[in-house]
Amino acid sequence: MRAPSSSAVQALQRHCQDTRQRQLRELFAADGRRFEKFSLEGAGLFLDYSKNLLDEHTVALLTALAKEAGLEQRRAALFAGDRINLTERRAVLHTALRMPRDAGLELDGREIVQEVHAVLDRMAAFAEQVRGGARPGWEGQAITDVVNIGIGGSFLGPKMGCEALRPFVHPRLAMHFVSNVDGHDLDAVLSRVNPATTLFIVASKMFNTAETMANAHSARTWFLRHAPASALPLHFVAVSTNAEATKAFGIAPENMFPFWDWVGGRYSVWSAIGLPLLLSIGIERFREFLAGAHEMDEHFRSAPLERNLPAILALVGIWNRNFLGAASVSIAPYHQDLRSFPGYLQQLEMESNGKRVTRGGTPVETATCPVIWGDVGTNGQHAYFQLLHQGTDVVPVDFIAALRPNHALPGHHTLLLANCFAQSEAFMRGKNADEVRRDMQAQGLPDDEIERLLPHRVFPGNRPSNTILMHELAPRTLGALIALYEHKVFVQGVIWDVNSFDQWGVELGKVLAQTIAGELTQQADPAAHDSSTNGLIARAKAAM
Ligand code: F6P
Repeated sequence: MRAPSSSAVQALQRHCQDTRQRQLRELFAADGRRFEKFSLEGAGLFLDYSKNLLDEHTVALLTALAKEAGLEQRRAALFAGDRINLTERRAVLHTALRMPRDAGLELDGREIVQEVHAVLDRMAAFAEQVRGGARPGWEGQAITDVVNIGIGGSFLGPKMGCEALRPFVHPRLAMHFVSNVDGHDLDAVLSRVNPATTLFIVASKMFNTAETMANAHSARTWFLRHAPASALPLHFVAVSTNAEATKAFGIAPENMFPFWDWVGGRYSVWSAIGLPLLLSIGIERFREFLAGAHEMDEHFRSAPLERNLPAILALVGIWNRNFLGAASVSIAPYHQDLRSFPGYLQQLEMESNGKRVTRGGTPVETATCPVIWGDVGTNGQHAYFQLLHQGTDVVPVDFIAALRPNHALPGHHTLLLANCFAQSEAFMRGKNADEVRRDMQAQGLPDDEIERLLPHRVFPGNRPSNTILMHELAPRTLGALIALYEHKVFVQGVIWDVNSFDQWGVELGKVLAQTIAGELTQQADPAAHDSSTNGLIARAKAAM
């Protein structure tokens, strides 16, 4: 973040000291227009951030902080394709993946929006053939199962999207996602599919990720136990930036869908990495998905910071994290089809902003990304919401809901929304000792019993939350929702002054795993590691 000595940070610290004793319920009681004042609409999404411990002055100070950090210039640099991923010397242009065909954007003398649409057109033609049965398997039967083999950004986005857009999916095509190097993952899928009607997509930006390569080789070996080698081109396609490696794996160029190094893995669902989603929902819906994200891009690019959804979501997060001390944020989609959204955001936010040095390489002076976690409502209510209501840590919550369901079952959606709104009200209001006492008196409990139970039944309240609403969960609103969080991550990265677009922290474990894999299969130096790691390796070898 801006150094603690920056004038914007100091002003916020003073403001925090002056206001942190305030109670949200009192702020609501004092201002009947609080909801109108602290809510925003854009790109088909509505954000209510009124249940945060802030006022107009807080928002003004936070936007001043963003301006002091150069957010507007950095945003312009993002959209212009400047090499803002400094450690990898790359542009960050996932926004170009959702630009309309007639938009122009040059990078290194190449018209990249045209390239994006050329690949999209190829993907669309391929998808329509598979969906229509015009690209059958080697025995002439239509494809019924698609297995995406990929991990991280090459897995989380397409999987989450296919689940979220369940009402729009192709009725014949079952989607499967294999990511884990744990063979149980692939084994479970292979045991369910017929090789003659299965299409494998090997999805990997670098095409050297150990898990994906292990799964891809095993899937190919399994396939070749059932089918002739000549059948491979009909059943294996790849998505990657690494044409050489896909060719070396045996995938013909016409079965390879490329993307570019300026698309980060966790920002890649809009690229060919989204192929499973496109196969699932078809090109028209996929274009709506892209259009929803583009609409959010335009909003982010043009709305003043005070009325800018991603900027406000990010700044409220900064307020809770850096001034009120919240170390984690819970994501609570009140939509079963968004069950993988918290996991998707974990990678997006934590891999992007889980950093400890600034862009210049010096240690950060304040906390960066909080832990992101969560699950769908109402399930979470019956699991960990106890801690959110009465635990010792304050955990801000993002509630996400659709006003209209994608099903016709009577009654359920009313109950679902009632629970969603009730939880944010409960977090905000709490229930004080007087209210709890009155309730128990009304129930006729004796005084000594009331006093005994009282401390257990008090809810402190004053716990912050955002609520994000959309009319319905559809391709366009899903696109906007993902883009909202992408830009939130960008804004927070600017404020924390970290590079949101690299991920060096995943490297060490990868290298050590390679060494240990060798040691597990060959004669290992018994003292190569610390005593714990040596002991674990020895136990595993004894059991092999
Ligand atoms: O290990 C982290 C990571 O590099 C992610 O950033 C990425 O999404 C994932 O691995 C998969 O990488 P790839 O698409 O190159 O296989």
